[in-house]
Amino acid sequence: MKTPQSIPNSLSDRQQRCLRKNILAWYDLHKRDLPWRTSSDPYRVWLSEIMLQQTRVAAVIDHYQEFLRRFPTVEKLAAAREASVLAAWSGLGYYRRARMMHAAAKVIVRELGGKFPATEKALRELPGIGRYTAAAIASIAFNEPVAVVDGNVERVLQRVAGKRLAGEELWIEANRLLDAKRPGDFNQAMMELGATVCTPRAPACLTCPVVGLCATRGELAKSEKAARQKKREIHYTLNCRNGDVRDAEVFLVQRAKDASLMPGMWELPELANMNGDVPAFTLRHSITITDYTVRVWRGVATSTEFGKWIPAERLKKIALTGLARKILRKVEML
Ligand code: ADE
Repeated sequence: MKTPQSIPNSLSDRQQRCLRKNILAWYDLHKRDLPWRTSSDPYRVWLSEIMLQQTRVAAVIDHYQEFLRRFPTVEKLAAAREASVLAAWSGLGYYRRARMMHAAAKVIVRELGGKFPATEKALRELPGIGRYTAAAIASIAFNEPVAVVDGNVERVLQRVAGKRLAGEELWIEANRLLDAKRPGDFNQAMMELGATVCTPRAPACLTCPVVGLCATRGELAKSEKAARQKKREIHYTLNCRNGDVRDAEVFLVQRAKDASLMPGMWELPELANMNGDVPAFTLRHSITITDYTVRVWRGVATSTEFGKWIPAERLKKIALTGLARKILRKVEML
């Protein structure tokens, strides 16, 4: 791993101390009153962080409270049937995360005597807990000085530094700025600042507690590569039968064997432009110099000419395009 010295320091030690102080003071005054902020119970922190990875804060609140009503402790979750866990998750999507939480709860109760691992390193051994979630739980519930990086933190760090930071550089920078005395609050403050002030478009710099230390003060200029990229919108049909969690089949089409791009590969049927209605979901996908906005529509009738119903368990074995794979992963068929 790179050492922290490998990135040029954009802020002096004094400025870094000032940034910590200002961000924490701002957070103490302006933090949103959210149900998971009233306790440092690792089970609650874990649940909120998993839910927050897949949807907006406002949508999480009700699901979080309802889930806790049904499964108030890690023991109750471990003892539950999978079907009831999935039922409590419904509406949130990404059921794989619920299954992973259930599996991790069983490990905690059956193998660790109900004691939650208290360090980032130990937390990462659990099913479904990656670097972000482990650092969030370790810092918020156990006060371990480890930084988190999510999309919001990434934007704040890059704007403060005045340059793009990639991969490991982001984690190094986040750890360098972290307030070691209040790591959980500092991490949440960085995420909160990104979500409410340092927003992707039109950031509210006039109300930002660290505007005086920020190299950008606004939106970071697009990289040369981003400026060259073309933009296109594309629509696909996601036609599933027998539900879409298990035992499902999805309707896919095969590209012509003599196509110049991705010959013979399987993908979702493309749709002509759809206007008016709202798609099931939208995702971004880039191929060389084109950035696609991909809109996925549910269950729109399709021609069967080059298509087939493919059972979910066959999806791993056939040649799918990268985009088809991404869409099917999103709905957890893969
Ligand atoms: N986004 C994800 N987790 C968060 C947290 N704990 N506070 C603020 N924003 C978040």
